[in-house]
This record gives sequence, structure tokens and C-alpha cells, in this order.
Amino acid sequence: MLSEKQFEKYEKLIYEQLGISYRQAKREMLQSKLNKLLRRAGITCYDEYYNLLLNKSNNKLWDSFVDEITIHKTDFFREENHFEYIKNNLDSIFQNNPRIIKNNEIKVWSSACSTGEEPYTIAMVLKECLPESINIKILGTDISNKVVSHAQKGAYDLSELTVFNSYQIHQYFDKIEGKYIVKPLIKELITLRTFNLMQNFPFKSNFDIIFSRNVMIYFNNSTQEELIIKYYNALTSGGLLFIGHSESLTQKQYKLKYIHPTIYMRTV
Ligand SMILES: C[S@@+](CC[C@H](N)C(=O)[O-])C[C@H]1O[C@@H](n2cnc3c(N)ncnc32)[C@H](O)[C@@H]1O
Repeated sequence: MLSEKQFEKYEKLIYEQLGISYRQAKREMLQSKLNKLLRRAGITCYDEYYNLLLNKSNNKLWDSFVDEITIHKTDFFREENHFEYIKNNLDSIFQNNPRIIKNNEIKVWSSACSTGEEPYTIAMVLKECLPESINIKILGTDISNKVVSHAQKGAYDLSELTVFNSYQIHQYFDKIEGKYIVKPLIKELITLRTFNLMQNFPFKSNFDIIFSRNVMIYFNNSTQEELIIKYYNALTSGGLLFIGHSESLTQKQYKLKYIHPTIYMRTV
């Protein structure tokens, strides 16, 4: 049984390293995740496991901790109205952000990309609706090494492709040894990397669109506010921020302008 003191130590570690707030309400969930991790590592004591984590020299242990503590639920075309918005509002997107046409380039960041369904969906939509002359550059990042390497493989089961009809499956995936692998024409638009949103953003140039969906819900208010300021600074003027449908920027819109439910624009 996780004692109060042990819970607080883990809660602090998770908050400081991953930005994620595990409150008392989620104590049982944390305990069951820790039990699983300890069993896997062959360790019987919460304090011993904690000390090993703190010393961070065991990358494998740290990676599996991060992967277990985070929640990776995602889907192709999840919260589809964001993709419909892009398709139906290209003119105003170009008008508000003339950089795209001027440079013949659109830069998009899927900032908590999980196993890749989100950046691959973005690539499919942009490839379909943008003029061919525009270069599509998509960055997908996530804190979990495991999901990033899953995304890099781009290999899915047929059961994960229910949103596609058979023509689209053929168009976007190669069937290889029972798995459906995203075709190179989509894969080549995307770079996938491990990145912790709690870090300073290292980008040299700004993004035209940032997807930050279903990740801020795990952060407390002050962490969310700091992150939104960083997103604002990472957007071009006229660039868009998409957040998850259960998320809200109420009272923390900073200089982002609300333009549609869960869609915001940097105006200055
Ligand atoms: C529920 S998934 C959302 C995936 C996708 N954006 C979507 O909406 O379908 C949340 C993702 O956020 C990632 N995550 C959690 N904390 C993070 C952090 N501090 N930095 C980067 N990614 C983080 C998790 O690893 C997980 O893959």
C-alpha cells in the first residue's frame, strides 16, 4: 500500500518532471500503475523504485515510467471538426497568415502526438486540400519514447483504421505482414521526436498551426498558462492553435483570439 508520504513524493516527481498533476482523486490509479511498474522491474518496494527513478541513469526504467504514467488514447481523424475547419477555411487561413503562400510552405506541430494518428491525419488532410506548390512540414512530438517510436514505424492494425473506407486504406497504407504501414508519400511530410512540453521550446522558426489536443487536461492551471504563452510565442502571426474538445482557454487566452470552439489565432 502506497503511504501518504510515498504518494506525495511520486506526485511531486511527476509534476516536476512531466507537468502532470496527480491529485488525491487519482491516487488509486497511480498506485495501480506503480504496482505494474514495480512488478515489471522486479522491485518490491516503492521507495527503492523511487530512488532508482531519481538517479535517472537507468534510461529504460525512466522511459517505462513515463510511458505508464501518461495516457495515450488517440485516433485517426479524432475530433474531426478541426480537419473540416482547415478544409473549409483555407482562404481565410491564407489571408490571416500570408507567410504560407509567400514562402510556399506550411509548418504544423502536433505537440502531443502519441502513437502518430494525429500527425498522420494532419498530413493526409493537408496533402488533399493544399495546392501542390505548398511544402508541407509537420513535426510530431511526445514525451514518451515508446509512442514516438510507434509513430515513427507508422504501423497500425486494421481495427485502428475504422474511420477509413477501403479506397482510403489503399490510398494511405501499404499492407505488409498483416500490418497497415503509412505510405511514404505521407510519412515523408512528418518528423517525429521525443520532446517534453515542460522544456523551453527550441524552435528556430514559428509554426503556422499548432495542435495541442488532449494533453493540457493533465496539467494544472498555472502549467497550462505557461504552456499557452509558449505556444503563443511559437506561432506565426495569423497562426492557429487547436486544443482538445474537452479543454478550454477561458481566462487564459493571453493574446490568442477565439475564432471558433477550441480554435484560437495569434493576431499580433
Ligand atoms: C491523450 S494523448 C493525446 C494524443 C493526441 N493529441 C490526440 O488528441 O488524439 C496525450 C499525449 O500527451 C503526452 N504528454 C503528456 N505529458 C506530456 C509532456 N509533458 N510533454 C509532451 N507530451 C506529453 C502523452 O505521452 C500522450 O501521448
